[in-house]
Amino acid sequence: MYDLTRRTFVGSALACVACSDGSTANPVERATVPLRSVAPFPIGCALNSADLNDPGLMTLFKRNFSQVTAGYEMKMGLIAMRNGSFNYQRGDIIADFASQNKMDLHGHTLVWYKSEPDAFKNLAGNPSAFADLYKRYIVETVTHYRHRARGWDVINEPVMHKGEGMRDSLWSRMLGPDDYMIEALAHAAEAAPEIPRFINEYSLEEPGKRRIFMDMIERLLKRGAKISGIGTQTHIKIDLAKGALTDTIKDLASFGLPVHVSELDISYGHRRVDTRSDADRQALQAERAAELVHAYVKLPAKQQYGMTIWGVRDKDSWLRHAPFPTTGDAPLPFDDDGHAKPMLRAMLDAFRGVA
Ligand code: G3I
Repeated sequence: MYDLTRRTFVGSALACVACSDGSTANPVERATVPLRSVAPFPIGCALNSADLNDPGLMTLFKRNFSQVTAGYEMKMGLIAMRNGSFNYQRGDIIADFASQNKMDLHGHTLVWYKSEPDAFKNLAGNPSAFADLYKRYIVETVTHYRHRARGWDVINEPVMHKGEGMRDSLWSRMLGPDDYMIEALAHAAEAAPEIPRFINEYSLEEPGKRRIFMDMIERLLKRGAKISGIGTQTHIKIDLAKGALTDTIKDLASFGLPVHVSELDISYGHRRVDTRSDADRQALQAERAAELVHAYVKLPAKQQYGMTIWGVRDKDSWLRHAPFPTTGDAPLPFDDDGHAKPMLRAMLDAFRGVA
């Protein structure tokens, strides 16, 4: 669905710089080439249905992004009804937005420890019925979004928070610590063999957690698991050590599978006292963003599934809403007023090989 020849996107990049499209984007935005026009792969962004009612966010979203990930509406908790039926109405709002705007859609997420609906909990005493519902949910959901979702996060966050081991969940307890993943991947492959199937994880920049994750991937592949992509969420902080992103992308790419930078944001972190200026923190943020792009564009084209940013403007970030500190953080490419930040410019320059 995404086939942009070099000639095409260079042309569109130049066209964007020259265009006076009269878009409602403010002068600052017109001065920056849209992110989607400089990358040879999809540049995605998280979207919640409430975002559709925000004209400022919509202008920036449509101008800069070519792929959508539902931040919330395509999760099991909103699809699996207590009576065992599946309701796709909320997810379809996001999928329809992507189709209407000729954007790709990335499915997020089929199986997650944080989403354990009653329909499944109520079958905890009946393993075979539980397994049947698990299969039906995955097959029917992947089928429902077939020809719209170009890939799925089949498994989300299977490793413990700090990489202490594998995470305990309703899924691991009912189906087995590795088998719940192997079975989910097999069900997704049965429903739509052509769609890449990702295991998506956060904090893979931490060498210890990355080791546990990579050992798990190797273990699953040896058992024939139908993994066809690796998602590294990349919820990072400005103080992440220089080189950590480069090492992470290089290590994860060693399986030869497509890699998705799936949920990028670059937080100021939550130091009790941070005396650094906003300019200094934004400079660090830009440095991390540039390092990530430089590392990612070095991957072979077949492994460049895409890069997804987890929100548009700082105020849209999950890090600015409960249960997190609701003020002060500025983790995204556009500020609260929708103006481009050094992070955006650093990504654009890195894509164009300027920096
Ligand atoms: O839509 C309702 C709204 O009607 C209601 O008024 C409001 C207040 O209760 O809640 C709204 O739903 C919230 C939804 O985000 C949309 O804003 C849910 O309560 C809230 O739980 C949900 O949070 C999402 C969270 O995952 C849990 O699903 C965040 O948007 C989303 O950014 C976050 O994303 C996760 C990834 O899936 C996995 N990786 C970590 C990442 C950040 O936590």
